[in-house]
Amino acid sequence: MRKRVSLADYLANETQVNHVTAELVKLTLTIADACVDIAALVRHGELADVLGASGQQNVQGEDQKKLDIISNDVFIEKTQASGALAGIASEELDHHHPIPDTHQRGSYLVTVDPLDGSSNIDVNGATGTIFSVLPWASDAAPRDEDFLQAGNRQVLAGYCLYSSATMLVLTFGHGVAGFTLDIETGDFLLSHEAMKVPAETTEFAINAAYAAHWYPPVQRYIDECVSGAAGPRETDFNMRWAGSMVGDVHRILCRGGVFLYPADARMEKSGRAGKLRLMYEASPMAWLMEQAGGLAHTGASEIMAVQPTSLHQRVPVFLGSSDEVQRLIDYHNA
Ligand code: AHG
Ligand code: MN
Ligand code: MN
Repeated sequence: MRKRVSLADYLANETQVNHVTAELVKLTLTIADACVDIAALVRHGELADVLGASGQQNVQGEDQKKLDIISNDVFIEKTQASGALAGIASEELDHHHPIPDTHQRGSYLVTVDPLDGSSNIDVNGATGTIFSVLPWASDAAPRDEDFLQAGNRQVLAGYCLYSSATMLVLTFGHGVAGFTLDIETGDFLLSHEAMKVPAETTEFAINAAYAAHWYPPVQRYIDECVSGAAGPRETDFNMRWAGSMVGDVHRILCRGGVFLYPADARMEKSGRAGKLRLMYEASPMAWLMEQAGGLAHTGASEIMAVQPTSLHQRVPVFLGSSDEVQRLIDYHNA
């Protein structure tokens, strides 16, 4: 096998060339470590007795799977010991988790979706962990409100994909790098350098089961795609839906595409502006997409510019190849 750059060597170079702090490098390695542990649990599946429902719900009223809770516990236990964090906010916790006094407090905050795509767990489909790191320039313990920073304040964003291979994909704001886990050694090795999303694509991703509830801009966009070569786009399109944002975003980073999880009439009736959560799904994926040359928008503004008002806030998400996201923005402004 050819000699590849390890995650640790890549990070050492980031420190030298792009001035990523030693503390942030430590945090990145600790997050990677947590993801290796979660990957092992996912990989053992039924044999590790981690499949199925937990019988509990999270603050958003969603049924938690056993593996949602276990991944959350693994992520917190590992990363709180890094010495680089002042607090952890998670999809699975109502409020942020403070760093206990037994551990050193650091100058960063992390928000995390410990296991994305939970509905895929029991069918052995793709899942992932999504994380976003924000600065915390104070010695005091942070409050929930202190996490409410817009995506353009992020200092590190990434995900780990648990699929046929385990992959860590991250950005510090100098492009996007992908690492594949060598399961023999437990090391992440650089396998996807400077990932780029082509501006043009003929592949879209949306849960079309909600079509009856879509608003006109999304309805128009999808109608035009599915009418193919005979329609106004004069092009045949393809469609994919992984049921896991990590799976869909990873495919788009690899070969282009556009991902849509819009707000719709049914959701808004129950007071929800979309499904995906700004702070640990939309924002980190938006930064990765923009760093790879794509776009990420809510239809009203750039995702990275949205000022969060609560930890579990939801936003509409349109992201991926820039020509198609721009078209969706134009349809929203028409
Ligand atoms: P989670 O499992 O963390 O709650 O996230 C699931 C999200 C996201 O991964 C995916 O894109 C979307 O839900 C799928 O939603 P539908 O089931 O409505 O298609
Ligand atoms: Mn998720
Ligand atoms: Mn989740």
